[in-house]
Amino acid sequence: MTISKKIFNAQVMESNSHLFRCPICASGMVMEDKSRLVCADNHSFDLSKNGYVNLAPQAHVTKYDKSLFEARKTVMSSGFFNQVLEFITHKVREHIEGREQAFILDAGCGEGTHLSAILSQLPSKTTGIGIDLAKEGITAAAKEYPGSIWSVADLANCPFQESQFDVILNILSPANYAEFTRLLKPNGMFVKAVPESGYLKELRAVFYDDEERTDDTDPVARFAQHYDAVTTERITYVFPLSSGLLAPLIRMTPLTWGASEEKIEEALGMDIQNITIDFTVISGVKRVE
Ligand SMILES: C[S@@+](CC[C@H](N)C(=O)[O-])C[C@H]1O[C@@H](n2cnc3c(N)ncnc32)[C@H](O)[C@@H]1O
Ligand SMILES: [Zn+2]
Repeated sequence: MTISKKIFNAQVMESNSHLFRCPICASGMVMEDKSRLVCADNHSFDLSKNGYVNLAPQAHVTKYDKSLFEARKTVMSSGFFNQVLEFITHKVREHIEGREQAFILDAGCGEGTHLSAILSQLPSKTTGIGIDLAKEGITAAAKEYPGSIWSVADLANCPFQESQFDVILNILSPANYAEFTRLLKPNGMFVKAVPESGYLKELRAVFYDDEERTDDTDPVARFAQHYDAVTTERITYVFPLSSGLLAPLIRMTPLTWGASEEKIEEALGMDIQNITIDFTVISGVKRVE
């Protein structure tokens, strides 16, 4: 007998309901009738038909829409990000090795492809939890990757209890160090992937006049203020771009937001055969005070 995605996702949520914390009043939550999460103060959050739960108290309109997430999925599924994901998976596997059970939160997971790819390489007793403020991303994730917990939620007000997570991933998304520290188990690991100056430089050359990306913030220094055993790894490679990938690549990146139709047409007409991936992956463990 096959069960629906909603029921499958609801079962995973129910057996891990101890993780949840009401985003309104911060009390614990339980699953009722495999269809809603309810807190001790009776705040109630229905599961969607695909089995995600919206735990963001206010509706958020983001620029990350359905077509952007479809484009991200197409590009990510092409192997574009594989070397970065392989590195992250290796770090996570090493960290959770020998544990009976492990919980991995992807904060700002988008449409869930990264979390799903990482989980597929980890022991089956690993539970993945993906949150994002963009409902379109979480809808796609719950539909495409049932068996994890998917929630529309604000990473600045995470609807989870303290000290529950073995690992928090934060890939190309904003961080909230206070929240992540609260959520990690003692010695839990935080892994953040940040773009470097070469990332998508072939596209940047079209959309911006300067080739070099300038960014004043120093994510490693910020990271080291909060975590111990900090390591950094720069991962740079050139990915061969098959002809069908240029359009979704242009569509998926915030780099092109605000660009004129003319510029987009110009980029679509270009013969870009290779695209540069350039990331630093920073990891560290929660400081034990
Ligand atoms: C560039 S996308 C990266 C998505 C995904 N990690 C990936 O690499 O494909 C940034 C994501 O951060 C999410 N985001 C931004 N602010 C957020 C917040 N406060 N809480 C949760 N998600 C947030 C956006 O909705 C978006 O999906
Ligand atoms: Zn409540």
